[in-house]
Parts: sequence; structure tokens; C-alpha cells
Amino acid sequence: MKHKIIVTGGLGFIGSHVVVELQNEGFEVVIIDDLSNSSVAVLDGIYAITGQMPIFEKLDLREKTNVVDFFKRHHDVVGVIHFAASKAVGESVNRPLLYYENNLNSLIYILQALYKKDRANFIFSSSCTVYGQADKLPITELAAIKNAESPYGNTKQIGEEIISDTCKVSDNLKAIALRYFNPIGAHESAKIGELPIGTPQNLVPFITQTGVGIRQELSVFGNDYPTEDGTCVRDYIHVVDLAKAHVAALKRLINDDNSTNYEVFNIGTGKGSSVLEVINAFEEVSNQKLNYKIVERRQGDVVAAYADTTKANDILGWSAKLNLKDALSSAWKWEQVINKK
Ligand code: WQD
Repeated sequence: MKHKIIVTGGLGFIGSHVVVELQNEGFEVVIIDDLSNSSVAVLDGIYAITGQMPIFEKLDLREKTNVVDFFKRHHDVVGVIHFAASKAVGESVNRPLLYYENNLNSLIYILQALYKKDRANFIFSSSCTVYGQADKLPITELAAIKNAESPYGNTKQIGEEIISDTCKVSDNLKAIALRYFNPIGAHESAKIGELPIGTPQNLVPFITQTGVGIRQELSVFGNDYPTEDGTCVRDYIHVVDLAKAHVAALKRLINDDNSTNYEVFNIGTGKGSSVLEVINAFEEVSNQKLNYKIVERRQGDVVAAYADTTKANDILGWSAKLNLKDALSSAWKWEQVINKK
């Protein structure tokens, strides 16, 4: 009997890669997605990789009745992995209520549904953005949670608090929050990957679109930071490694009767790379020069962030296996497939 796992936002970039790894591990997957920032065609990509077509329901999780009805119909669910959220940092500054409504109401309604069950496992998609500029590097899970730089980041902080407070008063709900560093890359098959809508806000999709000729030139947001080459440092983790961390976390929730019923883990490679190092690595894997220029800093950027992954290594038995070039190669292969270079 396969364990049934609900993946909200399962047609998104990270969600779709997690669905593949769940299916590879023998889980039955039901995807909920509202298609506001994804395409139903991603189902075909998942099927092409695993040969298993996930059950898919188009649902707006901001409507409480949708959530109540869904969990009545899927009363045999064993776990929920919750990705569904708005995630554009810049947009959240201009549209805070959209972010608080979408990201928090959906979370609350799902927790209310799980709270009634006699056993429920919940994994929350959180972000290293909760740390802001950490005082010490690498960043451990004990690092201070700083005032969020954006409503998006605030919804992750508040979301973690909602889950923590709920688990404190629930005997049957167990939860893990995974704080992602910078997810990049694509499945090696190039059947699924990142599908940014409009101009990419994140570095790597902008690089690959510049490489394939969609964008004329990459703007590097500042080279006057106190880092080795003056550009910001991030922990770029291959999305497949990140996806496997979700399976490891789910197995911990299902199998380990661990003491606390709410845990937090940093999910990164543990290695920092500067913007210029990413550009150089991309030029090597794509065997072409990248067109870029240095411009002024982007507001809200932290100087450096990379993970101390000891806790995930020791408790989840998980560590990243793929490196920056592996991730950039997969991102480049994907970009060429979707833009038929
Ligand atoms: C990385 C570096 C930029 C674009 C964001 C969110 C975070 C998470 C991951 C959701 C920075 C530089 C970027 C460009 C550039 N998202 N850059 N030119 O900002 O670390 O994190 O995405 O959870 O919450 O904040 O990632 O890829 O935007 O930027 O120079 O065109 O690349 O300044 O130093 P970031 P990013």
C-alpha cells in the first residue's frame, strides 16, 4: 500500500522535482496547483521521467471550502509538502496583502485540515531569507531570525511560527521546515526545470536566458561588496539535491519517533559562490563568453549567505551530492531545450 503524499504547488520548479523523487521512492503523489505560476504541461514532463502520472487537482487554496472538501476526499493522506505560495520578493513589496493572504491563509487552512487527523506529517517550504544578513557564516539553524526584508520573507517567518505554535498543542501533527538556500538547475532529463514567467529575477535563469540569446546582457548587481571579488556570495544548490532532502525529511517524519514534533533544517551545499564565480562556471560549462556588465547594487541583497548543513547531514542523513557546475550544466541544457537552440 503506497503512502499518499499531497504536494501543493507541485507543478512549480521545486515542487515538480520533489514529485519525481517521491515517485522514485514509491510514494503515491497528488498534486494541488492553482496554475497561477506554473503549467499543466509539467505533468507530462513528470510522466516522461517516472512513467507515473500524478493525480492533479487545480485548486485555489485561499478558499477554505476548497481545502476542507479536498481533505475530505483524500482522508487517507499520510503527508503534505507545501510549496504553494507567491514567491517574488520584489512583487511582495508592492503587493503585501496578496502575499499575506495567499501564503498564510493557504497554510492555515491546510494545517486546520491536518489538525483533525489522527496522524499527519507536514513539510514546509521555507527559505534562508529568514536569516537576513546572518552575523556568522556558515549559517546554522540557531542563527537569529532577522526582521524580514520583504513581505515575502515575512510570510516565511510567520509561516514557521504558525506551524511551530500548532505543533506545540497537537499530539498528532509532526512538521519539518526546510530553509532552502538558492535552488538552481534542472532534472538531468531536461523534461522539467525552471520556467520563470517574464523577466527572471533570479541570477541563474537570467544567465541561461542571456546565454541562449533571449536577454542581451546580464546586469551584475554590484561588485563593491566586502567579498573576495566584490560580488555577493550565495549557496547555490542543485534542485534535485534539494528535492531529495524533502524525501529524507518525509521519511524522518513517517519513521522516526523523534522527541520534538517540529524541526527546522538548512538545505544548501555548505559552499558559497560569488556572482562572478557563477558566471565563470557558466562560461566553462556552456563553452561561451557571457555578456554582462557591473551595475549598482540591488536593494535588499545580503552580502553573503551559505549554509552549515551539519544538522541535515546528521539527522536527515542527507547531503548535497551535486556541485555548481553540475547544476549550471543542467540549467543550460534545460534552457536550450525550452528555447530549442
Ligand atoms: C543571487 C545573487 C544578486 C540577478 C532569492 C530570494 C530568496 C529565494 C532565492 C525564494 C544576488 C545577483 C541576481 C541578476 C545579479 N527565493 N543577481 N543579477 O536574492 O539570493 O534569493 O531567490 O525563496 O528568497 O530572495 O537570489 O538569484 O535573485 O540573486 O547580479 O540579474 O545574484 O544581486 O547577489 P537571492 P537571486
